[in-house]
Amino acid sequence: MNDYQTMKKIQKALIVLLTLCHCLCLSANNSYNSEKDIYRKVDSIMSLMTLDEKIGQTIMYSGDWNKTGPYVTSDNMKFLKEGNLGSMLNVYTSKGTKELQKIAVEETRLGIPLLFGYDVIHGFKTIFPINLGIASSWDLKDVEEVARISAEEASASGVHWTFAPMIDIARDPRWGRISEGSGEDVYLTSEIAKSYVKGFQGENLSHINTILACAKHFVGYGAAQAGRDYHTVNMGDNELRNVYMPPFKAAIDSGVETFMTAFNELNGVPATANQYIFKDILRNEWGFNGFVVTDYTAINELVNHGYAENEKHAAELAINSGIDMDMMSGAYRRFLKELIVEGKVDETLINEACRKILIAKFKLGLFDDPYRYSNEQREEETIYRTEFLESARKIASKSSVLLKNINKALPLNNKQTIALIGPLAKDKRNIIGSWAAAGDRNGKAISIFQGIKEYLDESNIMFAKGCDINSNNYSGFNEAVNIAKKADKILMVLGEDYNMSGEAASRTNIKLPGLQTELIKTLRDELPNKEIILILMNGRPLDLTIEDSLVDAILEIWYPGTSGGLGVADILFGKYNPSAKLPITFPRNVGQVPIYYNVKNTGRPISNDNPTEDYKSNYIDSPNTPLYPFGHGLSYTTFEYSEIKLSNNKVRESEILKASSIITNTGEYDGHEVVQLYIHDKVASITRPVKELKDFKKIFLRKGESKTVTFEINSDDLKFYINGKRMIESGEFEIAISGTSDFEFNKTFNLTLD
Ligand code: BGC
Repeated sequence: MNDYQTMKKIQKALIVLLTLCHCLCLSANNSYNSEKDIYRKVDSIMSLMTLDEKIGQTIMYSGDWNKTGPYVTSDNMKFLKEGNLGSMLNVYTSKGTKELQKIAVEETRLGIPLLFGYDVIHGFKTIFPINLGIASSWDLKDVEEVARISAEEASASGVHWTFAPMIDIARDPRWGRISEGSGEDVYLTSEIAKSYVKGFQGENLSHINTILACAKHFVGYGAAQAGRDYHTVNMGDNELRNVYMPPFKAAIDSGVETFMTAFNELNGVPATANQYIFKDILRNEWGFNGFVVTDYTAINELVNHGYAENEKHAAELAINSGIDMDMMSGAYRRFLKELIVEGKVDETLINEACRKILIAKFKLGLFDDPYRYSNEQREEETIYRTEFLESARKIASKSSVLLKNINKALPLNNKQTIALIGPLAKDKRNIIGSWAAAGDRNGKAISIFQGIKEYLDESNIMFAKGCDINSNNYSGFNEAVNIAKKADKILMVLGEDYNMSGEAASRTNIKLPGLQTELIKTLRDELPNKEIILILMNGRPLDLTIEDSLVDAILEIWYPGTSGGLGVADILFGKYNPSAKLPITFPRNVGQVPIYYNVKNTGRPISNDNPTEDYKSNYIDSPNTPLYPFGHGLSYTTFEYSEIKLSNNKVRESEILKASSIITNTGEYDGHEVVQLYIHDKVASITRPVKELKDFKKIFLRKGESKTVTFEINSDDLKFYINGKRMIESGEFEIAISGTSDFEFNKTFNLTLD
C-alpha cells in the first residue's frame, strides 16, 4: 500500500471519528499538514493519477440550482463520476456540497475531493455594502471584518474558495463593475486588497472557517474602452505597472492563493492567453506559486477575440500561458490530451497545474476530511449570526458618504415629521446590491423605511413612492407633493436598480434613471423653502449636477446591504457621525469621463485664476474639476488641519521623513476623520501624477480635541516603474496632509540618493 492508499484508509476512519466528534471538526486551530507533508502527499497522489485524472483537476463546471438546492447536469455528473472534474462553482449549502463531495470521494477511483468556488463578493448571506461602499470607509479593519464574516458564513455553507477580491482599478463610471472594486486609487485599492485577502484566508487555511481568496481580474479589466464591459484595453507598460498592477502584487504579498484572468485583451493579446502578464510578471517576476483560474468561458472567447483559430487552439494558448484551471469553457477537457499527444503542449504543464490545485485542496484540509466545510449544524449556527448583522449595520454607516449638507439639514431629530419619498425608500430587493449571489432579495434586508422607524414614530412618517426607478409614469407625483407639503422635511431615497451596475451593466448615461430627477425638481418648485435630503442608492459615481443644485443634503449610501436601513438611519439621526470619503471621483457630467484625481499635468495646464483661458487643457463647456473629488466626504463636525511640519526638508534615500499635522475637531460632534497624505514628484524621467495618495490614517476626535498625526515616508513610497524597473529619482517633491484630494500643495522636500 502506498502513501496515498494508506491515507485514504485513514481518511475514512477519520471521517467516522469526526462525525462522532463534531467538536474536533470545529477545532479552529487544528493545523492538519505542514508544507513538507503536503508536497510529499501530493507527489504520492500524483504518482497514481492518469493523465485524464490530472486534466480533470484543471476543470471547473458550474452546478445548477433547483428548488431543493444545488444539482449537477447529467453531463457534468458523468465527468464527476469518472474523476474528471476537480472543481465546481455556484454550488453551496452544506447538504448540497456534501452530496456532491460524496460522489467525488466515494465513487471515483482516487477519491480526490472537489473544490467548491463561489462569488462571495460583499458578503455571503449577511450582505455588506457593495465593495465601492466598503472602500468608502477607508477602514482596513472593517474590510478585513467583512471578509472574515463572509468566510465564516461561506465556509459553513460548503464553500472553499471565493472569487474575490476584485481589485481592478477603475476610473470610468460608465463601467458597471466599478461597483465591485475599491475605486480609482492605487494605494487605497492595494491596502484594501491586503485586508480582503487576510480576512478571507485567515491566519492559516487549515482553519475550518477560512476560504481561498482569488485576486481578479488580471489585468487591466477596469480600463475597458469607453466603459463598455469586456472591451479592449490598450495601455503602456508604465501605466500598467504603476497603476493597474500594484493591487495584485499587494494581494500576493498578503498570501493570496489564486488568481483569475481578465476577460479583456491587453495591447492586442487577451489576458487569458497573455504570457507576458502571467508568465513573465506573475510567475517569474513576482514568484506567485498558487494557481490561476480563467474567468467564465474565457478560453472559448479567445476565438471571438480573433486570437485563437478554434477552441482547441484556444486551449493550447491558455495552458501555454500558465493558466491552470479552465472555468466553464470545456476546452481543457476536450483538447488537452490531444494537444499533448500532438506535441503542442508539454505534459509538465498539466502536472504543474494539477499539483498547484491539489496543494490548495491539501491546505484547506480537504484530504483529511473532505466534508469539513459541509456541516449542517455549523451552517445553521453561523448564517446571519446576530453579530454579523450588527457588523453589517456598522459598516453600512461607515460606508455612507455625506456629499453635501447645507444649513445642517442633517442630522434629523426624532420630533420632526418626515415625508419619505422615492422608489427605493421601502426597497428590500435592490438594497443588497448587484453581487449578492447567495443573498436574500425577498425580505431579509432592512429597508430605509424600517431603519427610520427605529428612530421615528410611524405617525411621523408619511410615505409616497413618487415614481419608479426607471419609468415614464408621473402618476405618483401628486401624492408625493401632497405629503411633502405636510412634512417638516423631505427625505428622498432614489437611485439605480441593482441590475444597472455590476457585470454587463455599463451605461452611457450616468444620471439618475427615469423620472427621479423630475420628481426632485417638482418638489423643489412646489416647496422652494423646504429642506430636501437626498439619499442615493447606486453602484457607480453618478452625474448629480442637477440634484446638487436642488437639494440641501446628499447622502451616498451605495447599496448598503442586509442591515442597510439600520446603518443609514443611524447616520440620519446622528447616532453615527458620517466619516466615509469617496474612493472615486464624481464627475459633473459623463463627458468628463474618465476623470480621476491623480492625473498628469499636460503641457498646457489651466491656472486656478483663469480656468477658461484659451488654448489650455480645458473644456469650452465644463470646468475640469469634478462635482465631488476623490477623498471628499463630510462629517457633522468640522476638522481643521494645521500647517504640515516635516522632520527635515532634505532627505536621503535611506532616511525616513516624518510629516505631521495637528488635526482639531472644531465642530459640535465627536467624529472620525480620514487624514490623507499626498505627494507630488515634480520632475521625473517619466511624468508623475499631480498628486498621489501615499498613506492615510483614520482617527477619532472628540469635539474640541486635537491630535497630531504623523506619517513616515520612506524610499519605497517614492518609487515608480520605468520600463519594467522600479526606480527612485532624486529631486523636489511636494507634500500635503489633507482631508480631501482637493487642496493646493504648499510644502516641499528634497530627496538625494545614497
Ligand atoms: C465574472 C467573474 C466571476 C465569474 C464566476 C464572471 O462572469 O467576471 O468575476 O467570478 O463569472 O461567477
